[in-house]
Amino acid sequence: MKSTAKAHANIALCKYWGKRDSRLNLPAVGSISMTLQALSTQTAVDFRDDLPADRLILNGKPASERACRRVSDFLDVLRREAGVKLHAQVDSRNEFPTGAGLASSASSFAALSAAAAHALGLNYPKPRLSQLARRGSGSAARSIFGGFVEMQAGQSPSGEDALAVQLYDEHYWPLEMVILITDPARKKIGSTEGMNLTAETSPYYRAWIDSSGKDLAEVRQALAQKDFEKLGELTEFSCLKMHALALAARPGLLYWNGTTVQLLHEVRRLRAAGLLIFFTVDAGPQVKVLCLPGEGQKVKARLTGMPGVHDILVSTIGPGVTLVDD
Ligand code: DP6
Repeated sequence: MKSTAKAHANIALCKYWGKRDSRLNLPAVGSISMTLQALSTQTAVDFRDDLPADRLILNGKPASERACRRVSDFLDVLRREAGVKLHAQVDSRNEFPTGAGLASSASSFAALSAAAAHALGLNYPKPRLSQLARRGSGSAARSIFGGFVEMQAGQSPSGEDALAVQLYDEHYWPLEMVILITDPARKKIGSTEGMNLTAETSPYYRAWIDSSGKDLAEVRQALAQKDFEKLGELTEFSCLKMHALALAARPGLLYWNGTTVQLLHEVRRLRAAGLLIFFTVDAGPQVKVLCLPGEGQKVKARLTGMPGVHDILVSTIGPGVTLVDD
């Protein structure tokens, strides 16, 4: 009853922010992302009869009680589905600089879903794994697939239609992403808390929900046409729209630091000077820059040396979750 899986992180080009059901973790809006080759998590799950409780090891060290509880609650869902009561040892390793301040919940829960389901003998196809990963983290539902992926908000109260689908695989259009670390510390207000506060207090939340269908349709179209300028413009729009919404929460959610803002201006300055790049930012201060195929290293070189930048990673587009032989 042991299995290991590897999954990659993803960055949303059209953002998810807000839930229509917190218990089942159903998103209020759909989203579209790109899976990243350079950021991955490998997770081994071992269900055993000698454990009094679940045990979580993160990058070689026992995890916090909070992280343990989140994983245990998630495993409960699977234990119910499999009719099993055993506890598990979960050993999860991020294959990207730890403490880089990069969210790993997407790759972690995607890898955990595949490994745990397989260890329990549940032969789930990817759409079912995506639904399962969503219970752990909304963005994890997208990391089940490689390439360009759409998370569907769905309408059903049971969440059977709230799952991700692959729009195009990783060979369709090998765009790249440059990730600039402006603060290696963990973010102070996590996505779950941030989006719930936004839904409760931001006056722009209704408009965000009402306009999301149009944003998704436009991103789908830009991908279908491989229209990079259009895709980039929509990516910046979705990012700024999400942050505007979160800034208007009470108290306002200010995820950016000074370097974040300087980088956004720098991306636009370089673009005006002829380098076709676009930014996006998630619930933290790191800046992600969308680049044309083969341009990541060049963009990294142009952004190297900016004050306040701790590290720069370059990623190509990556694959979906896979089982790893032990
Ligand atoms: C800003 O998937 O981390 O990265 O479902 O509560 O775990 P939970 O939230 P999470 O939120 C991701 C928010 C985002 C945008 C995105 O990835 O779409």
